[in-house]
Amino acid sequence: MKTVSTIVDLRADLAAPRRRGATIGLVPTMGALHAGHMSLVRAARSHCDVVVVSLFVNPTQFNDSADLVAYPRDADRDAGLLSAEGVDLLFAPSIDEVYPAGFATTVSVSGLTDRLEGASRGRGHFDGVTTVVSKLLNIVGPDRAYFGQKDAQQALVIRRMVRDLNLPVRIEVCPTVRDADGLALSSRNALLSPTEREQATALSRALAVIAETAQGGERRVKPLLTPAWAELAGSGVTPEYLELVSPDTLKPVLQLDGEVLAVVAARVGSTRLIDNISIHPVAASVVADGEERPA
Ligand code: PAJ
Repeated sequence: MKTVSTIVDLRADLAAPRRRGATIGLVPTMGALHAGHMSLVRAARSHCDVVVVSLFVNPTQFNDSADLVAYPRDADRDAGLLSAEGVDLLFAPSIDEVYPAGFATTVSVSGLTDRLEGASRGRGHFDGVTTVVSKLLNIVGPDRAYFGQKDAQQALVIRRMVRDLNLPVRIEVCPTVRDADGLALSSRNALLSPTEREQATALSRALAVIAETAQGGERRVKPLLTPAWAELAGSGVTPEYLELVSPDTLKPVLQLDGEVLAVVAARVGSTRLIDNISIHPVAASVVADGEERPA
């Protein structure tokens, strides 16, 4: 694996493989890598001839400067993990390389960014994400770019941007990787104390309760969410949001008719965590008396 920090060097290293028609995969990350990131790297490794991982803690997507300062960083460990996974190029630019003096352009997706993370973290968060991701896509020019379903809204916003701007890249979204106790892996989990780490499992438990309640045939939003709120409250966690939303528009659903996304965000101590799962209604079968019953 080769590590490069400038755009010129990265493009020079990609020129020859591109000329001979090699497929290029990009995995954008902010480092402090865990098994969730590595699942994206493995997906890229299995589909693409050349795998590029970017490591850049993007300051413009942090709405909270304390969060940016506290964000975990371990570039040497990250490089070791990526090298062991057969990554070809690690692109680790400086802030000045990405945002040179006079930088004045923002890529902004409207609509999808208004709610959930956009509402909680402010409009600048997704502007920061879409601006840096469009730059990374332009810098690397990958055939495929890999993102995690863990950040479901981010993945949706990036798909929208790629479609709207006709960017010639295929976006692949990989499933959320979890710890054995259900906690979705996140670089921020490293910031949790042992007690907070325990409390944090309430997020995935709350989502699991929604799935179980839906499995029992419940389709009304309130009875689906009430036990999930109780699960969070039982662990002393107050969510910023806990909602059932359309997986396409992220607007709240009125009822569980088709696939919906159960989404949650909460602070555990001072660490902000998010999680989501896909919920499906149980198939209803029409029985002899004409009533709908769960199959
Ligand atoms: P970061 O939080 O480092 O995440 C990099 C990628 O890993 C994202 O696509 C994220 O969804 C994915 N990921 C994180 N946790 C995961 C998990 N438990 N399972 C599967 N995938 C997971 O997201 C960002 O960085 C930034 O916003 C970025 C896209 C790099 C732009 O700066």
